[in-house]
Amino acid sequence: MLSWIEVDTNALAENLRSFRRIVSDARLAPVVKANAYGHGLIPAARAFAEAGADWLCVNAGFEAVTLRRADIKLPIYILGYVAPCEMGELAGLGGLRLVAYQEETVIAAAAAGRAAGQPLHLHLKLETGNNRQGVDIADAIALADLIKQHDGIALEGISSHYADIEDTTDHSYAEAQMQAFRTAHAALTEAGHRPAIRSFSNSAATLLWPETHFELVRMGISAYGMWPSKETLISAQRLGRDKPTLRPALTWKTLVAQVKEIPANSSVGYGRTWQAGRPTRLAVLPVGYYDGYDRGLSNVAHVLVNGHRAPVRGRICMNMTMVDVTDIPAVGTGTEAVLLGRQANESITAEQIAAWSGTINYEVTTRINEVLPRRLL
Ligand SMILES: Cc1ncc(COP(=O)(O)O)c(C=O)c1O
Repeated sequence: MLSWIEVDTNALAENLRSFRRIVSDARLAPVVKANAYGHGLIPAARAFAEAGADWLCVNAGFEAVTLRRADIKLPIYILGYVAPCEMGELAGLGGLRLVAYQEETVIAAAAAGRAAGQPLHLHLKLETGNNRQGVDIADAIALADLIKQHDGIALEGISSHYADIEDTTDHSYAEAQMQAFRTAHAALTEAGHRPAIRSFSNSAATLLWPETHFELVRMGISAYGMWPSKETLISAQRLGRDKPTLRPALTWKTLVAQVKEIPANSSVGYGRTWQAGRPTRLAVLPVGYYDGYDRGLSNVAHVLVNGHRAPVRGRICMNMTMVDVTDIPAVGTGTEAVLLGRQANESITAEQIAAWSGTINYEVTTRINEVLPRRLL
């Protein structure tokens, strides 16, 4: 075993229950795309389902197929692109929801729904300012009309996604998006459409704005026990919101593969980017950027060994990382090291790794290679 991920499924369940306390009526639809933000799609989905999730959100058709094969029966909302050629298989799974923002999807979904003998539920994705996936509000009514004209599909909901909510404490852009969403909903209603499920809230909006929970919330990062950003935390404090207890659920562990002494003035690793200023004891860890331990962590990150911080020395390699254990007693081959998570009284958070490598906590956990085993606690 080179390295592995321990997932505290109780923490996932507790996070979901914390959301239940702040989201009174809306459906809770935790987002389990990207291998459940690195936590393992099936175990995370099961933990959320057992803790009372109403729906699950994924990005792609193959994730929905995997969940159904694992006998997970909750409604599944596919947030990303579905190609027409996938529709037949997906319609046959039952209980799936797709986003719709173009004619091609509507026509293919209708044919697949008819063939399966059960309608596919569509959610119109409204472009409110992210300029990513979505249909302009001016065109939304025409698309809703098209859906109405076809058997095999039903317009169940509308949704949109924020562009600028986690990165700032100034929420004027997000508020304008929300206003555009409300206007679109009113226009659709006026035109005779009754999408029953409105969803706009990701984690940040769910935490900050109860008035935007509508009928369904799609929280990702915070279901895994992480705040979307420090700006979101500050905003929650400023707004006096009930802050749910969020507990990170993921620990990344490995075992020391070799311990070696090197003399002063030796260099470590590719490019010789670190020179020992004194005789140094190195531990070689069998983890590298292939596993998702970012090369940007070279010479800046720490890992935990025997409850102490061991600095990374030299460049992270594809499959190995060297850390300095000169001041840490009793380290040998087979000693456990923690790359992310807690060990004794020390901890290394996804936020800390993100700061070291110039990214966000989302990327740190989602990029942990799927091939690493996930062990459930
Ligand atoms: C469409 C959509 N909804 C919800 C989410 C969940 O966002 P968060 O992880 O910030 O809660 C995402 C995440 O990227 C998303 O793309």
